[in-house]
Amino acid sequence: MAPHDHPVFTQVYKWLARAEDAGAIGKARTEVSRALHGRLLVVGLGPAEDLHHLPETVTEVVGIEPSASMRKAAAAAVDAAPMPVEVIDAMGEQLPLPDNSVDSALFAYVLCSVEDPELVIAEALRVLRPGGTIAVLEHVKAREGTWMRRAQRLASPVWPHLAGGCRCDQDTRAVFEAAGLDLSGLSSPDLTPVPPVAPSLVGTIQV
Ligand SMILES: C[S@@+](CC[C@H](N)C(=O)[O-])C[C@H]1O[C@@H](n2cnc3c(N)ncnc32)[C@H](O)[C@@H]1O
Repeated sequence: MAPHDHPVFTQVYKWLARAEDAGAIGKARTEVSRALHGRLLVVGLGPAEDLHHLPETVTEVVGIEPSASMRKAAAAAVDAAPMPVEVIDAMGEQLPLPDNSVDSALFAYVLCSVEDPELVIAEALRVLRPGGTIAVLEHVKAREGTWMRRAQRLASPVWPHLAGGCRCDQDTRAVFEAAGLDLSGLSSPDLTPVPPVAPSLVGTIQV
């Protein structure tokens, strides 16, 4: 099995993503997608639960997905998508795309799982055209002193083994800040009040 493939997690995640689609997470997917347009880069396509939330302003999708079982799980949604979707077996850390070749990018529940979030964001900024839009829907590190942060500390040694490499305490806000991006369009609602995958980081960033 390839190092980035977690077939059991793929099946569990696909079921969960479907189950959550009718609730707050599905609504958030629609909300953050509103500003997306043109050629869209989706890093970590997963089972492609985002595709049916995309607005008509998205004309084409490039989905990056290193897991073979996830690419298989995405196949039906990719076929059913109203716009062309190219799925590429690659890593967000090394996008096989030219500079300035996409108009928008979507990070949904992926920056917790990539090996090098700083590099993934740098790669997205390289391929995004000036004036591009990044949509964000992530779960992130909780504030120090909260019960959620304590739950994350307890869970963090085992969580990656249960959840396909996901780090429940990934400080994604800090990574975006370090990249010099304007984070005024992001908020931190408790979309998934289930420990250890809360709070969320949701919204859009204009590049
Ligand atoms: C939790 S799933 C989220 C999928 C989808 N974005 C969603 O919102 O449902 C995380 C996905 O990121 C993929 N992934 C993990 N490491 C990656 C990397 N370095 N580059 C791109 N995708 C990666 C995994 O294979 C998995 O499909």
